[in-house]
Amino acid sequence: MSDKPNEILRANSIYHIYESNAEDGNVVALRGLSVSITEGEAVAVVGPSGSGKSTLLKCLGGLMKPSAGSVELAGTRMTRLTGKQLVRLRQETVSFIFQDANLLPHLNAIDNVAQPLIHQGILARKARPKAQALLDKLGMGERSYGLPEELSGGEQQRVAIARALITNPKLILADEPTGALDPITSREVLQLFKELHEESDVAFLLVTHNREVASFCERSLELREGRFIAQHGTDVDIGDLSESRELIIDDTGTITLPPDVLLGLGGPGRFEMSEIDRDLLHLERVDEDKVSVSTGNNSMVLSPNCPACKYDYAGSDDQLCPECGSSRPMIQS
Ligand SMILES: Nc1ncnc2c1ncn2[C@@H]1O[C@H](COP(=O)(O)OP(=O)(O)OP(=O)(O)O)[C@@H](O)[C@H]1O
Ligand SMILES: [Mg+2]
Repeated sequence: MSDKPNEILRANSIYHIYESNAEDGNVVALRGLSVSITEGEAVAVVGPSGSGKSTLLKCLGGLMKPSAGSVELAGTRMTRLTGKQLVRLRQETVSFIFQDANLLPHLNAIDNVAQPLIHQGILARKARPKAQALLDKLGMGERSYGLPEELSGGEQQRVAIARALITNPKLILADEPTGALDPITSREVLQLFKELHEESDVAFLLVTHNREVASFCERSLELREGRFIAQHGTDVDIGDLSESRELIIDDTGTITLPPDVLLGLGGPGRFEMSEIDRDLLHLERVDEDKVSVSTGNNSMVLSPNCPACKYDYAGSDDQLCPECGSSRPMIQS
């Protein structure tokens, strides 16, 4: 169980590797991500194409098992559940919204919205009025009997949002929810998210490459190549993020520096902490040869294998895995 009662989602150091026999080998899509979302919070993950957004969302929502690391949903660790328990936890806790509304083509709007309740064993005649009420609320009351192919993209997305809300989820996971919409319809859908966020205590995690989509969220996390590189609050001017950049130190103590900050520091290397004060860290570059790994009773050594892809370091003292780029941890000798 999680120690914070109002935490709806927590991921600890998740890695995900897509295994492949193709020439370009395995793809490491997530490299040790940790994130925590509390009830009612809206968080955006912003990153370019291929940075791992969809992979992250699937791992967080229990649609895919990460290669390493753990995910807790509403205080329950998903990796420990049987298939049936996992489906049940998902049904009771999360809803997904994808770029394409993914409606069932042969069902009209109201039956698409009612579907998750019917899946839970609720009778259609009980589920339908609830579905109608949600469609009314989302401005789709007049289109309840339209089939998906008869609805516009924006209307289909509203139906998908109603379907996501009907189970009263604690968390909505959305993958590029406005990606298939024109800018005006996209703003309308965002406005809808904003209202839902203000009036209910459902939490949102939204992944997108579009900063505007992130604008109703309290926080946005920047994802690059499977790592979080920065966190921004809503009070920042999205035209100029460099002024207000924050760095995240996660609860394993890991800091990930954005490439420009790393460059500003003079590149990778070893650093000494000359002083440690609360909320303040002084780093001073040291020569490689001044550094030795301590050998006391509790001595730590560099791990012989990569925790993510199992690469064998074979006696080298590399700090980063040449296969997947993950940092090499220290372990008890
Ligand atoms: N099924 C898969 N098999 C192999 N590699 C995959 C698979 N799915 C994704 N990848 C790779 O994993 C990395 C992350 O992909 P992901 O789909 O999570 O990115 P994304 O940020 O959602 O991108 P986009 O904005 O284009 O949707 C990419 O390098 C991608 O090529
Ligand atoms: Mg994607």
